Amino acid sequence: MADNTKEMPDNQENAGIVLAVQNLKKKIGKQWIIHGVSFDIREGEVFGFLGPNGSGKTTTIRMLVDLIRPTEGEIRVGGISMKSDPTRALQNIGCIVENPELYSYMSGWDNLEHFARMLPAVGQDRIKEVVQLVSMEKRIHDKVKTYSLGMRQRLGIAQALLGRPKLLILDEPTNGLDPQGIKEMRGFIRQLAATGLSVFVSSHLLNEIQLMCDRVAIITKGKVIAVGHVSELLNQTERKLVWTVDQPAKAREVLGRMDNVELLDEEEAGGNSGEDESETGRAAPGNAVLAAPREVREGKPAIKQSWEQITSKDKKEQTASGPAANPEAGVVVARMADCLVPEANRQLMNAGIGIFSVVPKNPMLEELFLRLTEGESIG
Ligand SMILES: Nc1ncnc2c1ncn2[C@@H]1O[C@H](COP(=O)(O)OP(=O)(O)O)[C@@H](O)[C@H]1O
Ligand SMILES: [Mg+2]
Repeated sequence: MADNTKEMPDNQENAGIVLAVQNLKKKIGKQWIIHGVSFDIREGEVFGFLGPNGSGKTTTIRMLVDLIRPTEGEIRVGGISMKSDPTRALQNIGCIVENPELYSYMSGWDNLEHFARMLPAVGQDRIKEVVQLVSMEKRIHDKVKTYSLGMRQRLGIAQALLGRPKLLILDEPTNGLDPQGIKEMRGFIRQLAATGLSVFVSSHLLNEIQLMCDRVAIITKGKVIAVGHVSELLNQTERKLVWTVDQPAKAREVLGRMDNVELLDEEEAGGNSGEDESETGRAAPGNAVLAAPREVREGKPAIKQSWEQITSKDKKEQTASGPAANPEAGVVVARMADCLVPEANRQLMNAGIGIFSVVPKNPMLEELFLRLTEGESIG
């Protein structure tokens, strides 16, 4: 590609796009590690980069910050080409790849002063500002070696923000943090975006991206297979629903007779437990809220009410005449579109089956990938 495309002025279409990545590819040795990554990041949005370990997230990020050169493709930061003017392009990016580089025997403040010296026009006032942005006022004069991992991460982010970037790039920022630290990091990333900053955050955890991001690019095996709003991408797929009922065998029959409902094995009820859920510190009902549609999490009233009815009924019944008190009770796991749930409910009730709860399970990341890639091959 010719280098004289250097200074393409922002036209109407490019306005508000902080980072534009087009058909990025990287070959290392004889192997294509990245073969087709494209997405745009807009002003003030939290953009997720979701993919399993080894899918190419860090390699892509290393290209975004000019640590390695793309074999093919185009990266533009605020309209400036990374290839032809890396210095100016990089001025708009703050980044932490892997661990932030910090001096542990120095205070947080001294660390920031040290890095500020390397940047033009970054003085004490800006240091104070970034310390406030990451809410580190109380501990900033303590030595870094006394900081928790979460505080080190925040200091790393403060450092990345010193040069007033338009885009902050974080590679798996919640890795290694405890549940409380993860929650704080999420809130804190949202706060930064509220100031107009764009944040690009990679993760291998679907839940995390779902709770934190406006839009997401899904990468698998070095290729971006979908870009869009998180809830839209999830809604493209049918969900796994766990029905807890008083007559599971009969319920299986009823649901099995319905069109477009796929019965699954009971073990699937456990589904996506583990890492994603323990992070919330909540048990089953909490998981239901976590897995609820975006509208519910954002508290839009109409759906919220019905959702709470489901979950509060669940809790009540568990203590009174619920599954615990009913030896016949059990679960039926079925995959179906959300729009079929009312009909399934009606049919179960018509058959005289008592429903204690319906809990949607988020498709696991791998499952979502499978579905997305299958969709591609079917066309
Ligand atoms: N320098 C390298 N040489 C060869 N293979 C590499 C190199 N860097 C990364 N890879 C491979 O590229 C793939 C993507 O790695 P990476 O970008 O680190 O994934 P992620 O960050 O999503 O876990 C992996 O299979 C990894 O082994
Ligand atoms: Mg990585």
